[in-house]
Amino acid sequence: MAPRNHKTWLKKPNVEYISSEIYHSHAIYKQEQEDIFSKVWVPVCHMSEMYNKDDYRIMTIANEEVIVWNTGDSVEAAINLQMKGPRGNFHLIHKGCGKKLHCEVKHGQMVWVTLDPNPKHTVEEWTAGAFDCIADAIDTEELEVFHYHKAVIDTNYKLWHDTNSEFYHDFMHYFNRVSGFNDEYFARKNIPFDNGHVNVSSFTVNYEEYDGFEDRGELSFPNLPPNQWYMVDLFPGFNFNLRGSAYRSDTVTPLGPNKVLIEFRGYGLRKDTKEERETRIKHHNSIWGPFGRNLHEDLIGVSGQGTTMREGTESRNILHGRHENGTIHDEVGMRHYYEKWGDFMGMSPTMTKAA
Ligand SMILES: [Fe+2]
Repeated sequence: MAPRNHKTWLKKPNVEYISSEIYHSHAIYKQEQEDIFSKVWVPVCHMSEMYNKDDYRIMTIANEEVIVWNTGDSVEAAINLQMKGPRGNFHLIHKGCGKKLHCEVKHGQMVWVTLDPNPKHTVEEWTAGAFDCIADAIDTEELEVFHYHKAVIDTNYKLWHDTNSEFYHDFMHYFNRVSGFNDEYFARKNIPFDNGHVNVSSFTVNYEEYDGFEDRGELSFPNLPPNQWYMVDLFPGFNFNLRGSAYRSDTVTPLGPNKVLIEFRGYGLRKDTKEERETRIKHHNSIWGPFGRNLHEDLIGVSGQGTTMREGTESRNILHGRHENGTIHDEVGMRHYYEKWGDFMGMSPTMTKAA
């Protein structure tokens, strides 16, 4: 094959691809806020973070300040108008000063909010079965957040979702290569669900293969076989990750084409003994804490990807052409996500200004 020159490199690929422009265009970022983040159900926080009556949390969805609070019987949400005027009392919200929003508690007691005044789906309909694989593990017992941190990363939010969706970057994770590259791993399936969601089916991780790590079977989440690892990748940027004894969620708030706020939560069971909780925290932090094996590698990865796609760089084509019968490195999850992204945006993700 002849070496590629600049002209051939820019040719339309003969496999599935998207344009790098969708990761850096300011117009696309703005449209995503309006056409995607203002429409979908967003998992904003966990019930255990607002456990008592009148506890509340404030967050941002598509540039709107949102407040959610515990009424004692249920959870309610509203646009946080008091943030826009003089600071008032939180209880003003109860008197109807904020525009009420649809809100539900679902899937491991996450609190879900949508800015859409007339949502087409309930949360259950929206998630479309993507949580079924871990439902018995996260809905049997009450969960509790034991870890929270947030990071503002100079990259596009979709690159963070991509890194949770594609698994060929596992070759970057020394820990995963040592503890996970067994036959079951390579047979693991990517399973698409309606509305752009994907889950990555489980396999057995051999934690003890890595020096200093231990088997996690004893503290498995309810109804979960020992040392299993499930991932749920929810459109447009929310990830739920169950590694046997510890559960993690990532939620994104895009702040610009090249800036994203990622919130990381770690969960155990509310009924944990002190010793059980300490072990879960250790299991969580040893992989996903700021000094864990994997998290910083993923963050460095997506930061690097982001810098190659800044505004002003030449658009290039990002290939999603791997077809391997839906197994772990098949790009079916990426193709599925970007097809839904195109539906919401009313445009093809292969489009570029140059095209
Ligand atoms: Fe990773």
